[in-house]
Amino acid sequence: MAIVQDWLPASRENYECILYLWIWYPILPSLQWFMAWYGMGKTSVESRFNIPGRIAWFTMECPGFMTLLYIMKTLPAQHGIEDLPWQNQVLAGLFVLHYIYRAVIFPIIQPSMSPIHVVVWGAAIMFQLTNATCIGSWLAAYGPMTQAEWKAQNSSVLQFFIGLVIFYVGLISNYFCDEELREIRRQKQRRQEKLARDGQKSIQKHYSVPENGLFRYMLYPHYFMEWIEWTGFWVATGFSCTPARCFLLNEFFAMLPRAVNGAKWYKEKFGEDKIKGKWVVIPGV
Ligand SMILES: NC(=O)c1ccc[n+]([C@@H]2O[C@H](COP(=O)([O-])OP(=O)(O)OC[C@H]3O[C@@H](n4cnc5c(N)ncnc54)[C@H](OP(=O)(O)O)[C@@H]3O)[C@@H](O)[C@H]2O)c1
Repeated sequence: MAIVQDWLPASRENYECILYLWIWYPILPSLQWFMAWYGMGKTSVESRFNIPGRIAWFTMECPGFMTLLYIMKTLPAQHGIEDLPWQNQVLAGLFVLHYIYRAVIFPIIQPSMSPIHVVVWGAAIMFQLTNATCIGSWLAAYGPMTQAEWKAQNSSVLQFFIGLVIFYVGLISNYFCDEELREIRRQKQRRQEKLARDGQKSIQKHYSVPENGLFRYMLYPHYFMEWIEWTGFWVATGFSCTPARCFLLNEFFAMLPRAVNGAKWYKEKFGEDKIKGKWVVIPGV
């Protein structure tokens, strides 16, 4: 049964329409280059429209993989597809694996998370729903549905597996970069527990310049490794897969201005000397 007739899951015509609009999405996050405000993370400020960090993160990231799973369950039957190729199932599994970490585990294991403004929360939900609709529809019915179609889609099974390796390298490195940031707050927490000073228990919004792992070389390696991850996904789908290309490019255009603004924030807070010699988010730049 459809949740919204012809939209969730989407008919081919509506899928093509959503995908066409999705190609133009980078215009929206590019507005961040002209705005100082961003109601999340380092730049979040007190507002009655803020949602507590963990709750906001969980509720804005979960709709993505839940939508994809729903589409994978319903769309093939609507098109008389009985068995999806193994490649489609593996790719759907990778998408869900990523979001089990990002949407469910991440907000639980973060030592603390700044509040998120309802506007950022709403924009993230729209991103998740659109992205999952495009990728899910392609995997469930509108992409390659037979091994012959996969042969035409992707030059070889080797390319699929190379994509998988790149995906896992990105996923694991992204996790360990997140872990470096978590460790900064855990250390602070441990120090405070040792000192046991009343009134200084909060680790909310405690920042320092991360120095370990890839952070030695750049300020936002977790963003860079996330892009590597989705590059791997795109390689595995074959380069003509528009939804996978859009996902990568749309993340890139959404996250690049955040990293550049974040670098300015580090410079203002800790001084130029502390971040000297580090790239922002792209190696060599
Ligand atoms: N932002 C996006 O648009 C986006 C899109 C797709 C994927 N992701 C992925 O989601 C993950 C989180 O993204 P994000 O934009 O929230 O990253 P972020 O701004 O670097 O923050 C990540 C977490 O670490 C904490 N943190 C950041 N810098 C710190 C520092 N210098 N010292 C101590 N703690 C620090 C933050 O706490 P506070 O919350 O208190 O600042 C937050 O909980 C990343 O792995 C990223 O690749 C992000």
